[in-house]
Amino acid sequence: MKFVPKEIEEYCTNISTTPSSLCSELADYTRQNVDLSVMLIGPMEASVLTMLIHQIRPKTIIEFGTFTGYSALAMAEQVESDGKIFTLDVNADTQNLAQSFWDKSPHGHKIVPICGQALETMGQITAPLDLVFIDADKTNYRSYFQYALENLSPKGVIVLDNMLWSGRVLEEGQLDDSTLALKKLAREIQTDDRLIKTLLPIRDGMLVVQLKVK
Ligand SMILES: C[S@@+](CC[C@H](N)C(=O)[O-])C[C@H]1O[C@@H](n2cnc3c(N)ncnc32)[C@H](O)[C@@H]1O
Repeated sequence: MKFVPKEIEEYCTNISTTPSSLCSELADYTRQNVDLSVMLIGPMEASVLTMLIHQIRPKTIIEFGTFTGYSALAMAEQVESDGKIFTLDVNADTQNLAQSFWDKSPHGHKIVPICGQALETMGQITAPLDLVFIDADKTNYRSYFQYALENLSPKGVIVLDNMLWSGRVLEEGQLDDSTLALKKLAREIQTDDRLIKTLLPIRDGMLVVQLKVK
């Protein structure tokens, strides 16, 4: 399901700050050569991450779900030179492809790929987390979110991608595991009074979460 008409999305993208031409090259290569290129976040979502990065000025970012490295590179282009993006993925082939593009960027040194099941590797990042981007397997989102919340810096922000799941979150009755997991987590976040949250209908739904200032 497309939530925003194509022409409106193009207009928004044109007005907004978007990633470099190297990111576009990476996205084109992915679309032509890699299965499931629909998983790329694209320029409008990257623009929202860009805005958040300029607000938060994060030193430590963790990304769940590298794929071919588009979102990691888009974030690396915005963080300061001492910022680090730890990006977790189970697929070594797509992470290696990502590395070949990051190597062409003056910002590539800020990205640290970690290969393996994210549930097992996330514990390697112990620094307080300033920005967390969750974009891996949906059934583990809750565990990723809890880890993020437990390790979030006071100014930290968590972004959960695909929280509209192509509109399937509106379905009731017999649901597949991913839809069920996303709906349950959204409800948990909604009712957690410690959190400020906003669900943006950008691309497939970006849920932005922050701890309330005490
Ligand atoms: C939606 S894609 C990430 C897209 C990426 N953020 C981008 O915009 O280019 C999801 C990724 O999560 C990875 N993934 C799925 N299950 C995983 C797991 N259990 N642990 C780590 N990575 C996983 C997949 O291999 C896939 O590359």
